[in-house]
Amino acid sequence: RRTGFERIDGELCCDGFPLSEVARLHATPTYVYSSELIREKYRRYDAAFGDTAHLVCYAAKANSTMGVLGLLAAEGAGFDIVSQGELMRVLHAGGDPKRIVFSGVGKTRSDIAAGLAAGIRCFNVESLAELERIDAVARELGVVAPVSMRVNPDVDPHTNARIATGLKSAKFGIALRDVKDAYRRAAELANLRVEGISCHIGSQVSDPRPYEEMTEVLFALLRELDADGIRVAHVDFGGGAAVAYRVGDPELAPEALVERLAALTKEKAPYPVEILIEPGRSIVAEAGVLLTTVEYVKPMEADADCCIVDASMTELIRPTLYDAWHRIEPVAHPARAGAKPVNIVGPVCESSDWLGSRREIEVAAGDVLAVCTAGAYGMSMASNYNSRPLPAEVMIEKGLPTTLRERQDVLELFAAERAPECAKQGPL
Ligand code: LLP
Repeated sequence: RRTGFERIDGELCCDGFPLSEVARLHATPTYVYSSELIREKYRRYDAAFGDTAHLVCYAAKANSTMGVLGLLAAEGAGFDIVSQGELMRVLHAGGDPKRIVFSGVGKTRSDIAAGLAAGIRCFNVESLAELERIDAVARELGVVAPVSMRVNPDVDPHTNARIATGLKSAKFGIALRDVKDAYRRAAELANLRVEGISCHIGSQVSDPRPYEEMTEVLFALLRELDADGIRVAHVDFGGGAAVAYRVGDPELAPEALVERLAALTKEKAPYPVEILIEPGRSIVAEAGVLLTTVEYVKPMEADADCCIVDASMTELIRPTLYDAWHRIEPVAHPARAGAKPVNIVGPVCESSDWLGSRREIEVAAGDVLAVCTAGAYGMSMASNYNSRPLPAEVMIEKGLPTTLRERQDVLELFAAERAPECAKQGPL
């Protein structure tokens, strides 16, 4: 069977199924995922550990669609979550609570209670105040909460500043100087049990060196804590491996990252520990495209024409938010170099609503385009701005399309809203 996105007789296909056919069946904008590529990426991470004790916790925020979570749960994946909403999604998708780690700087009491009720693997604690809160909630519920301190290692991941998290100026993690106090405090609190130590330095990191620096910092802490009689069962190195959005962009392959982390742990950890990682983007990014149809091509006086498509920043906000570059290709035939570059923009009333700038491809109204490498932080960051319904999502499974999510119904957009007395309501 064919795997991933490739052209067959000129037509762009996903796992062998033509994308133009998906667009015909489901209309656009629609996300399409390759089940084969998601599974393959997860398995590469898992296999790269060999005999080393490990758990791959997929970062659900990258794509939290039930069908994607369900596929990974069936593979035996663990999950990294950041809210009660993600917790419920993972549990309903069949995820094992014992394989869930709960990150995030602002965990509410109800987040914590939900995690405890589910019996998750551990909370990645991001402040001393949160540590006290987890102990208090656990005491009320009469349980012991498993915790792992998320360390801010003050390491520069050399990535886009908007997705860097491991510098001391970032809001994430416990400052290095406070980490030992946090472990000592955890040892005093009766409703906490120390499970691990964790870290996440940023996203779209292509250089293995920041990870090496992070391991140095974490193992030095483990040695100091060991001297105080405090030991952990696992070390969680977070996610962040880069994928190539353009051909030739630097990427960090699962094997390269895992083998390095496993070797460093074996050599330098003061005692044997289980390794956890939290990859998000690198499992799903390349497995998804966003299909969109050209509505209008507007000739411009400027040096680029305007190609207005039916997808926008509400389906894929990465170009707007990070100036991210996504490859855009016609699905029916390979891109033909156009005479004049086009700016590919959406219908949303914002100048920053664009998907691609100055692309030299020939486009005409009615063409279906694929915005590539859109499986991560696409759908999960989609919004209803301009009262646009959320797009449909389709997964190619065993070579055939299955609907993961129906396109949102327009009436659903305001179904939860209530009118005040003074309002006149129209017909429904
Ligand atoms: N673990 C933690 C604690 C995280 O905060 C993140 C991502 C991950 C794991 C997964 O990182 P990944 O392997 O996906 O790089 N919206 C941005 C990315 C934000 C990443 C936030 N945290 C984007 O579209 O580029």
